[in-house]
Amino acid sequence: MIVAVDGPSGAGKGTLARRLAERLNFAYLDTGALYRAVASRVLSEGGNPADEKTATAVARALVPADMARADLRSETTSQGASKVAALIPVRQALLDFQRSFATLPPGNKEGAVLDGRDIGTVVCPEAEAKLFLTASAEERARRRHKELLDRGEKAIYARVLEEMRERDRRDSERSAAPLVAAEDAVLLDTTDLSIEAVFEKALAVVLSRM
Ligand code: C5P
Repeated sequence: MIVAVDGPSGAGKGTLARRLAERLNFAYLDTGALYRAVASRVLSEGGNPADEKTATAVARALVPADMARADLRSETTSQGASKVAALIPVRQALLDFQRSFATLPPGNKEGAVLDGRDIGTVVCPEAEAKLFLTASAEERARRRHKELLDRGEKAIYARVLEEMRERDRRDSERSAAPLVAAEDAVLLDTTDLSIEAVFEKALAVVLSRM
């Protein structure tokens, strides 16, 4: 079984997807980490994430260790990730890995949960359960701001909100696999919901499709 969890950053996809995978004993793939890993390597080699040739070469040569790079979740990497993610050959280079993870999950698991932007629309249009999480930009920025402060980083809320809007715009307006809910996705607005409430609602959707 494939569970697709899509939505903008800060909507709670990662937390939800990880918990669903744990409860169902499914494999979990954070597909944003792939784009982040590409951006992080390009940046560390002094390259420009928006440069197609450089980013594509890195995407084709990606290894699992790249997903554990120290700066994977920094703001610079986040912005870089949404730039490499707008390049068609980069998306193409990462597609096979995502699809085989979903259809043949590691560890012989009976299913996989993937979170990202285009799982229900492009990577796994055949997914049995599709969830599309949203939340107001202010609430998503508040969560992201708290996450940065909790990690001991300096962050200004207004700046976080501005950068989040910029990344939303880039992810939604690009022509390659833009951020959009699949027609058969269940929409969940998490603005006023606790993590627990989101989890219960999502789990009910998944169980109803099993
Ligand atoms: O989900 P996360 O914020 O880690 O993703 C980082 C960036 O990677 C996003 O802003 C988006 O541009 C890109 N991405 C994507 N497709 C996915 C997952 C992430 O384009 N399936």
